Amino acid sequence: MKRTHTCGELGKGDLGKEVCLQGWVRFSRDHGGVAFVDLADRYGTTQVVFDPENLPEGVDAKAIDGAMKGFSRESVVSVVGIVRDRVPGTEDPRNPTGEVEVMITSAEVLNRSAAPPMEVGDQKEGVLPSEDVRLRYRYVDLRRSEMVHALEFRCKFLSLAREYLLKNKFLEIETPMLGRSTPEGARDYVVPSRLHPGKFYALPQSPQLFKQMLMVGGMDRYFQVARCFRDEDSRSDRQPEFTQLDMEMSFVDSKDIQDTVEGLLSYVWKGMYGTELETPFLRMPFEEALEKYGTDKPDIRFGLPLVTLTDVVREAPYGIFQTVISRGGVIKGINVKGSLAGDRIGRNEVDRYIEHAKKLGLGGLTWMRAKDGTLESNIVKYFTPGIIADLMEAMDVEDGDLLFLMAGPEAQTVAAAGQMRLKLGQDLGLAKADDHRFLWLVDCPMFEVDPVTGAKGAYHHPFVLPTGDPHGDGVGGECFDLVLDGNELGSGSMRIHNAETQREVFRILGMSEEEIDEKFGFFVEALGYGAPPHGGIALGIDRFMAVLLGKETIRETIAFPKNKRAQSPFDGSPETIPDDKLEELQIMTLVIDDLEFE
Ligand code: AMO
Repeated sequence: MKRTHTCGELGKGDLGKEVCLQGWVRFSRDHGGVAFVDLADRYGTTQVVFDPENLPEGVDAKAIDGAMKGFSRESVVSVVGIVRDRVPGTEDPRNPTGEVEVMITSAEVLNRSAAPPMEVGDQKEGVLPSEDVRLRYRYVDLRRSEMVHALEFRCKFLSLAREYLLKNKFLEIETPMLGRSTPEGARDYVVPSRLHPGKFYALPQSPQLFKQMLMVGGMDRYFQVARCFRDEDSRSDRQPEFTQLDMEMSFVDSKDIQDTVEGLLSYVWKGMYGTELETPFLRMPFEEALEKYGTDKPDIRFGLPLVTLTDVVREAPYGIFQTVISRGGVIKGINVKGSLAGDRIGRNEVDRYIEHAKKLGLGGLTWMRAKDGTLESNIVKYFTPGIIADLMEAMDVEDGDLLFLMAGPEAQTVAAAGQMRLKLGQDLGLAKADDHRFLWLVDCPMFEVDPVTGAKGAYHHPFVLPTGDPHGDGVGGECFDLVLDGNELGSGSMRIHNAETQREVFRILGMSEEEIDEKFGFFVEALGYGAPPHGGIALGIDRFMAVLLGKETIRETIAFPKNKRAQSPFDGSPETIPDDKLEELQIMTLVIDDLEFE
């Protein structure tokens, strides 16, 4: 018999029906000769019962009993039976099928499972095995309701996004996996060419070049759920292969692209949560983000802004500040308002924050408390009443507030102060998991300068349209990032559509004419054949899902992710390949060293 229902479907309306359920044996128990089995599938769990004393006439109890001997955990079974009420008091209100059960009238094992490597039923915290075990047996791990939910959520998000884009004249177009290197700042994964020995394709770090070519080709509006490949250091929000919702549009400006993303996300929000998303999103200039939040991806769910105090304390004869300022460093401060628990952070906690600051690379942390209209600490003696008054004004100080001051070289101190702000926000419970705040990071620079070599690199990528003369000091890029709760979820820009400007930007990035021709000749050439003004964006889908689902790592939102060492414990890749295959590709391998991982 085929299944008549899934394991998440039956309820009071089905009482008395004969049904067939098929699924996995999640849990079974015996109560005085009555056997209870939780039968589960993607849709839910239904209790099925072998009740030999109450079987309808003509049912072969022995046959059922025999079959159920094979009902070991995670075996796939089929049962036929009658839907009946559960015994009063044994209903399970947390389970949508928890008011009823199926009294088995026939049973069959479809496929017996070996002893499962992990528990699949709802997990109490800490019961899950290590991630490598979960990834090794991912097909078992995927049966857990949390994984089912994550993948269903992802599928729904993408299908709503696709619906919106198709309604808005976007064409879904696939671009090649085998191509030339796309410069997105990571190393390439390469694929050797058998027909052209010694030559390699690069897997796309993003479809950037192709989507721009689609605009030159007049496609006007493109999107793709695109797999991207980047060989970079592992982090909780990075995978060697990941998914972008990639878009490109012609005859638009930055605001049109941002409006499209806001429209798309509003549509998705309504479909996922049934609520309106507040738009337009805040637009925050890059400089303001660094100044107030110490990062280009601020979490604006809470305040605790950073304040630059370098000028305020410049004249104070306090040794550490004097040394830092004389070396061109900065002093940043955070005011933990008394109303936010600043007055409840005791000496021990302050010491812990000092230790944390050291871990972030700061020399330490100077702290002060506001009391009776002034500041108290062992260093205020170095401050004149005028400096104290200026400090209190700059940091908007009231009695009960706790101030942290951080001093050091600029870039490092700004970043560490940003981290400190996040830690305080987390410790004080200021960022609520179900509160989501989007923002557009705008007015980004075109280039960033390597502090050691002085070489210019692209802040985003080399195809971003400069806002002025690309040689100009501190020239901006017509680019923007989508940030959600302190995570960079997407980045986009207007592109250079003039061939000569593109060449010039490559030159500024240190490329010779030969190098430009060799690497990007085909691209620059295409811009010369009628490239329309165009721009676009890519949203990182794995990260988006992780933030919305409150997951620690994007691996929880991917069916078969790589582990922290870029391996797949499930299929054992990467793996050596046989010598004859290498020979065919005319490749010799030489392992110089094993890489060390964190
Ligand atoms: P970018 O490199 O910023 O831009 O990538 C866009 C978004 O993709 C996500 N992302 C990643 N997610 C998981 N693992 C990774 N290794 C990883 N790397 C990036 C991030 C990021 O914001 N071509 C441009 C887009 C454009 O200009 O249209 C690009 O790829 O969420």
